[in-house]
Order: sequence, then structure tokens, then C-alpha cells
Amino acid sequence: MTILDGRALSKKIKADVKKDVEILQKENVTPGLAVVLVGADSASATYVNMKSKACKEAGIYSIVHEMPESISQDNILEIIEMMNKNPNIDGILVQLPLPKHIDTTAMLEAIDPKKDVDGFHPYNVGRVVAGLDGYIPATPYGVMKLLEEYKIDPKGKNVCVVGASDIVGKPMAALMLNANATVDICHIYTDDLKAHTLNADIICVGVGKVNLITADMVKDNAVIIDIGVSRLESGKLVGDVDFDNVKEKCSYITPSPGGVGPMTIAMLLKNTVKSAQNRGK
Ligand code: GUN
Repeated sequence: MTILDGRALSKKIKADVKKDVEILQKENVTPGLAVVLVGADSASATYVNMKSKACKEAGIYSIVHEMPESISQDNILEIIEMMNKNPNIDGILVQLPLPKHIDTTAMLEAIDPKKDVDGFHPYNVGRVVAGLDGYIPATPYGVMKLLEEYKIDPKGKNVCVVGASDIVGKPMAALMLNANATVDICHIYTDDLKAHTLNADIICVGVGKVNLITADMVKDNAVIIDIGVSRLESGKLVGDVDFDNVKEKCSYITPSPGGVGPMTIAMLLKNTVKSAQNRGK
């Protein structure tokens, strides 16, 4: 069994991003990322802090627009519009989830698709599904990079994606299909999850449910990608996979934390630099 080391690969990608930033700076372009954070969700605040810190380390300018839970939709739209027009901002990211009274789709659709470094605007969703160049959502993009690094080719493989969210599961399935895998997408209404996972050469799970994937659900020598992160009462972070038992059966496995999470941040930086490279075009 080999550990898919997302921490190590994310360091390499961040170093490449930093070099690209230095090249841009010679042309007087400093990539800029604007983050919109609404409300006081502590997990969201932690993620946003991690993104800001990573930007700083890579030489990317970042600004966080923090807004109270009670903010109106129009006020958020005004900020997004301002960032759309700001020539020094290359990427705009609205941290999800948003409070219930806010129409998430309306916020995502307000972002200029050229600055949509999260890849959540329907324009980029469509381009990615069609296999065209566009912004690929950072988490599934990071998974594909991790597989590539370890020379794991999904072509012709049975892939089971567990979790069908717009930001992880659906784009993950699209990328796997575009990589010529045969893809099962499972979700909370799936009747017999085990039947699907047992048939899979590669399992990508991102649900947020501790021990959802146990050793009896995994085929010998499968590749296990754990995208889930949950905090136990003890404070310890764990993924969706029963790591200690599943690791004995599989060929490759990502730890969680330390697998997909660091890759997500690295790919967000990569998308931001890509946008800066296209600035003004
Ligand atoms: N919430 C959870 N993951 C993400 C992400 O990748 N981007 C944004 N904007 N919000 C999230």
C-alpha cells in the first residue's frame, strides 16, 4: 500500500505557482484573489484563513470581504460587482455555504466567469463537463493531479464517486468520465452503496460521514481517495474512510487530513495565477 501524499505534492505545486507569480511580477502583474466570507461559520473562517495564508506565501495579493450573517443579497452583489470591475483582482471566491436567506446560485452567477477561480459558475461547470478549457473546481482538480503524480490512470477503470455535491462529487465524476473512466455516482438515496464501492477500482468519497467506507466495502488493491473531513468530539480530524482497516486492502490511499485538503488550496492558487496570466485578454 502506498500513501498518496497530498502535502508533499501540494508543496511542489505551490513552489511552481510561486515561480509563475515571480514571472508575472516582472511584468508588473501581481495576481489578486478576493474572498467573500459571510457569517461566522468557524470551519469557513478556518478555510478562508488557510487560503489567505497560502496566497501570501505564494506572493498572491488577497483580500477577504467579511460580512455579517444579516447582510442583504444586494450588498453581497455590490461587492462582487466591485471585484468584477477591479483590474487588480483576478479571482473571486464566495466561501460556501452561505446563510439560508441568500440565493447561492445568484451569487455564483454574478461572478465574472473569467474570475471564477472556484469553477462554480454554470459557464465553467459547462465547460469542464464538455472537456473544454475552464476553471476546474479545486478539490476534484487536486484529486486528478494526485492520481497523475502517482501515475494512476483512470482510463477504463471503474470509478465510484460517493457524494454528488455541486462542488465536489459532480465535477469529480465529470473529470473521471473525461479521463475515460466508467463512473458510478452514489449519494444519500443510493440503495446499496456497498455493491457500487465493491465494484470500484478507484473510490472517491467526499461526504463528511466518519467511517462511511469500511474494509468490507473495498475491493482488493483498490485506490482510495478520501475527500471527507470531520472533527471528532476529541478534536481529531478524520475522513470518510476507516483508514486503519482499509489501508490493509488497498493499493493506494490518501490520508485525511494530509491528502486531498492541501491539494485543494494548491489548485486554487494555480487557478488564480492562470487568471492573472490571462489578465486583460
Ligand atoms: N466550501 C467548501 N469548500 C469550498 C470551496 O472549495 N470553495 C468555496 N468557495 N467554498 C467552499
